[in-house]
Amino acid sequence: MADSRVRGCSQDRVIYPRTSRTDLDKGIPIIVRAEGVRIFDQDGKAYLDLVSGWTRPVHVGYGRHEIAQAVTDQILAMPYYTPMQFGNPRAVELAAVLAGLAPRPIGHFLFVSSGSEAVESALKLAKHYHHYRGERARFKVITRRGAFHGVTGGALRVLGTVLPIRQMMEPLAPGTIFAESPYCYRCPLHLTYPACDLACARDVERLIQFEDPSQVMAFVGEPIQQAFGVCAPPREYWPIIREICDRHGILLIVDEVISGFGRTGRWFASEHFEIRPDLMTMAKGISSGYVPMGAVGASDAVVQPVEHFANLQTYMNHPVACAASLANIEILQRERLIERSSDMGGYFLDRLRSLERHAIVGEARGAGLWAALELTTNKATHAPFPPASLGRIVDRARERGLIIKAMNMALEFAPPLVIGRTDIDEAVRILDGCLSEEGQALGL
Ligand SMILES: Cc1ncc(COP(=O)(O)O)c(C=O)c1O
Repeated sequence: MADSRVRGCSQDRVIYPRTSRTDLDKGIPIIVRAEGVRIFDQDGKAYLDLVSGWTRPVHVGYGRHEIAQAVTDQILAMPYYTPMQFGNPRAVELAAVLAGLAPRPIGHFLFVSSGSEAVESALKLAKHYHHYRGERARFKVITRRGAFHGVTGGALRVLGTVLPIRQMMEPLAPGTIFAESPYCYRCPLHLTYPACDLACARDVERLIQFEDPSQVMAFVGEPIQQAFGVCAPPREYWPIIREICDRHGILLIVDEVISGFGRTGRWFASEHFEIRPDLMTMAKGISSGYVPMGAVGASDAVVQPVEHFANLQTYMNHPVACAASLANIEILQRERLIERSSDMGGYFLDRLRSLERHAIVGEARGAGLWAALELTTNKATHAPFPPASLGRIVDRARERGLIIKAMNMALEFAPPLVIGRTDIDEAVRILDGCLSEEGQALGL
């Protein structure tokens, strides 16, 4: 199982993002093989991957020969030609497929290499749109506290996370407006739904007035937010945001980087709320992570005024990435993995709800095969859960061969959409044990 080529090579020569010196000194696992819903490290230890590659892209599971074949075929036929003033058949084909799947009125696509670049390009398209319509003063972007939209310059600008990523890179370009997130379990406005009357959404109007509506370019947000652990807003949230954006000529950018391609039991999470985005970002599940890939979708109304999109990157509309994505989408369709995400997600959520009997589990929630357990030290008051305890649960699970992740004060799960009941049962059994032990350690 070991990969003999890395024997004797120092791990230290690779720069690892978000990996501490302490972790590196202890030694991080090298993953050498993956199959179905499992990964294997260099010592042959198997892990049940409940987060689809940790960053959650691997929707179709590991070991798909037909994606490898599609990539090989395309490399041999034509590996690369510029996206500027030349086309390629795979990009044309993928755009046509996506036009049939994306929420209305999204119908035009640009392919990039990551979610960050998708957000970056969406912001730039929004700027171009306003520029060509003569509204050149519009540059401000509304984002939400807690949001993660990537780490390139523009994406960083709309990063609302508490992680020290933004602070490290400041000063950033000016013009970011932070709204509160619809995180109902611990409402940042200390209100309770439905008595709150969606104050977090309605407050966006006040923010826009303060900033001057004629300077605001776009609102960016995920339909269901990863921050705080898979937070779906109340159903009134998105119609309020859409109406405010429309009234002020502000473009609505919906970030489907995680939630797209079946993660929430629909092709796109926008469908749950009938959102009509002006721009939409995608990545991760578009290629199941087999090759780097991201995309921006735009409506006719956004694309039409743009005479010339002055934003070339060498690897835009890359034929190999498009070929991999087409093969991936074919698998999602043929194996009905979107429906499976919905059905198996229902089963998974039921099993997670059974863990609400633990004193430290405040709430189980989810959509499709994207779920979270919100943790607390006091179910009545929703008191915060200590990060060290959360870390211990994740570490214990990993020791027992289960990969999960911490998200704010929650545990997050996003397994490959091919996961079955037996593996879900095994995961819940391990989780049960880890939660009991941490509950006891906390005296709860
Ligand atoms: C919602 C969202 N948008 C954008 C990104 C950035 O994607 P990438 O890491 O591919 O650059 C992420 C990454 O997790 C994300 O979750």
